[in-house]
Amino acid sequence: MGTEARIEKLRELRDEALHSGSQRAVARQHEQGKLTARERIEALVDKESFQEIDQFVRHQASDFGSGDKRPLGDAVVTGHGTIDGRPVLVFAEDFTVFGGSLSVVVADKICKILDMALDTGTPVIGLKDSGGARIQEGIASLDGYGRIFERNVRASGVIPQISVVMGPSAGGAVYSPALTDFVFQIDKTSHMFITGPDVIKTVTGEEVTMEELGGATTHATKSGVTHFVYPTGADALEAVRYLMSFLPSNNTEMPPYFAPTDRADRADDVLDSIIPDESTQPYDMVEVIETVLDGDEFFEVHELWARNIVVGLGRLDGHTVGVVGNQPTTLAGALDISASEKAARFVRFCDAFNIPLITFVDVPGFLPGVDQEHNGIIRHGAKLLYAYCEATVPRLTVITRKAYGGAYLVMNARGIRADMVFAWPSAEIAVMGAEGAVNIIHRREIAQAEDVDTTRAELIADYEEKFNNPYVAAELGMVDEVIEPRETRHKLIRAMEMLRTKREKLPPKKHGNGPQ
Ligand code: HXC
Repeated sequence: MGTEARIEKLRELRDEALHSGSQRAVARQHEQGKLTARERIEALVDKESFQEIDQFVRHQASDFGSGDKRPLGDAVVTGHGTIDGRPVLVFAEDFTVFGGSLSVVVADKICKILDMALDTGTPVIGLKDSGGARIQEGIASLDGYGRIFERNVRASGVIPQISVVMGPSAGGAVYSPALTDFVFQIDKTSHMFITGPDVIKTVTGEEVTMEELGGATTHATKSGVTHFVYPTGADALEAVRYLMSFLPSNNTEMPPYFAPTDRADRADDVLDSIIPDESTQPYDMVEVIETVLDGDEFFEVHELWARNIVVGLGRLDGHTVGVVGNQPTTLAGALDISASEKAARFVRFCDAFNIPLITFVDVPGFLPGVDQEHNGIIRHGAKLLYAYCEATVPRLTVITRKAYGGAYLVMNARGIRADMVFAWPSAEIAVMGAEGAVNIIHRREIAQAEDVDTTRAELIADYEEKFNNPYVAAELGMVDEVIEPRETRHKLIRAMEMLRTKREKLPPKKHGNGPQ
């Protein structure tokens, strides 16, 4: 065969690979409101930047039961492209080929991408749409999942890993997304579960739909598996691009810098009046956070889960910051199991990828309750404590109002090595709430009083006067500076400038043994 004929043959093969899925399968995908694997990649990466690899890989199963059906590329499209000019590695499961199921060669292709990502310090984005292990290949395909999981863990904390679940993801296959840093789901068309509705009905008798069991809303609001939900695949992929704008390519780099359009010394008068006079009244911590960040821009993570705590990414004077804040509008901002887990995972992510942390504190304590205790608030609350204590990135704290007891310490207090703690004049920093404290330390006096209620009220007022302010903590150096709320942005930016050269290291160890 002459050279021209050979080039022609290559073109034919490439064209064949682009159409591995049958027309019927592609049409079905579109009817369901889903994009194909290649359309998804096009939407994700910069225009014409995608370079496909392993396009001619075919499954090697001999006893397949499907005649000679060996489509080029098999059921995953892999390669690299750029997002805003920065390289990313991508794999997109192709539901139009054997339902996107994981054959041995599909696993090989994904593992190759993960290895390249780790070797080169490049973020990896997986677009998931799969019927699970390729049933025809039995345990060999199961082993493929094992190889992927191990690489997900090896890459954890080295490169950002993002999963976008855009169709089914069932059985143990869900553990690959769960091991990655961020999970996106598409409303109504993506489902994740360990055992499906049929198995559940057989085993427990419970009846549940796919959507109720593992739809995007379920995982975004109840289980916390999913960080982001979008109405369409295109919206989700656009959001992945936005998320990437906050992240470094790997743990040896700093996040990208964007020249700020916002003044560093901008004073925000609105913050001076945001705290209600009555300390039991809520206000929106997201408003505080947005006001302080560049351009009021805050990309909230896990927005719909554990809403008593807020976590997300933004920029301060052009530099990425991770923000954690108690949210007084839900459960008065108390820390419970889910809030502790949510914030702990986020703090660990930021620390791994050199993203400084800002913590806004308004916490009345841990949420009391038998349910919380029996389900392990001690164990789960300790996750957040551990995450902060372990974090070596710059850590700033702003106490806006309540900061009581153990929850105060957990929320990045000076005692656990915060780098700088600011408090607003409205801050109430105390070992516990006035009522509880008075009932303990003045129990005898109250019991013996002629007018119990008046005596108790006076003692509470006295305690509040003495301790519900930032000045006791400031006297002890636990608060570095009491600031006017309007100054918050400027103070944080100046502190961050000073801390940019922070070089804290943990003592050498294989790894800690936190209560993860
Ligand atoms: C091989 C598969 C497949 C699989 C789907 N297909 N799943 N082929 N192995 N696991 C094929 C179908 O035969 C069909 O081929 C095509 O993909 C589309 O599937 P449909 O069923 O027509 O699509 P739909 O109605 O949308 O249903 C999607 C689905 C369903 C809900 C995902 O296909 C399904 O339940 N699949 C099996 C899921 C499952 O039990 N997987 C577990 C495998 S064990 P044709 O040729 O007809 O178009 C496992 C363990 C992993 O995953 C553990 C990891 C640790």
